[in-house]
Amino acid sequence: MLVASLQAWAALPLMLGGLVLVGAVDLGANPQESIIRGLGQASLSLLIFAYAITALERLWQNLVAAGFGYGVTRAKPFGLVVARRGIGLWALTYALLHLLAYWLFELDQDTWQVLVDFFRRPFVTLGMLALLIMLALGVTSNRFSMQRLGPSWKKLHRLIGLIVILSLLHYALHKAGKNDFVEPLAFGLVAVAAWLLKLRRPS
Ligand code: HEM
Repeated sequence: MLVASLQAWAALPLMLGGLVLVGAVDLGANPQESIIRGLGQASLSLLIFAYAITALERLWQNLVAAGFGYGVTRAKPFGLVVARRGIGLWALTYALLHLLAYWLFELDQDTWQVLVDFFRRPFVTLGMLALLIMLALGVTSNRFSMQRLGPSWKKLHRLIGLIVILSLLHYALHKAGKNDFVEPLAFGLVAVAAWLLKLRRPS
């Protein structure tokens, strides 16, 4: 029941993205740019959420152990881990839509230009590397791959940390032109907090 409702909940980002795309939300003077950026931000938010899930679970366990469980005395996981795969796959979906929007609107459907940009614009290089690793995680997010890869599966999926770093650098370099690092820094702080919490074993 909980699993089903969490999976249904994971459909929300798609609906929100749809709303943006049909223009229900003000896309400003440059709708194409807003769509590319909105999809990039959606992907990054979901990616960091997926990355933070272990940390959130651990925080909950620590709070219960410290007596802040509001009546809960034995910490049971609150089930977000089950939704992690769905959230990660939504992050990948948005990253692919972000790439599609960039190809459609910024490159005028010139596929060759994707390769040129890979070598010419360092922030695009970082984004593409992040997306490639995300794809590897996405296609192996199933029971079959888990069994086939054995212990390597865990190692591969630990690369989520590298994806977060590459995506944050992609964002920061994109903003470097305007010397405006506030948003990448805010996302970065959440990621660092999640990483620090992950380091601490539940007491
Ligand atoms: C093939 C991979 C990618 C390409 C080619 C790409 C390309 C771009 C481009 C061209 C922009 C600037 C848009 C503009 O100013 O008009 C951008 C911004 C952005 N991208 Fe990507 N990107 C890729 C992957 C990713 C990934 C994997 C993420 C996150 C997980 C991401 C998140 C963002 C964010 C957050 C922005 C800035 C949005 C803003 O300015 O508010 N991108 N990307």
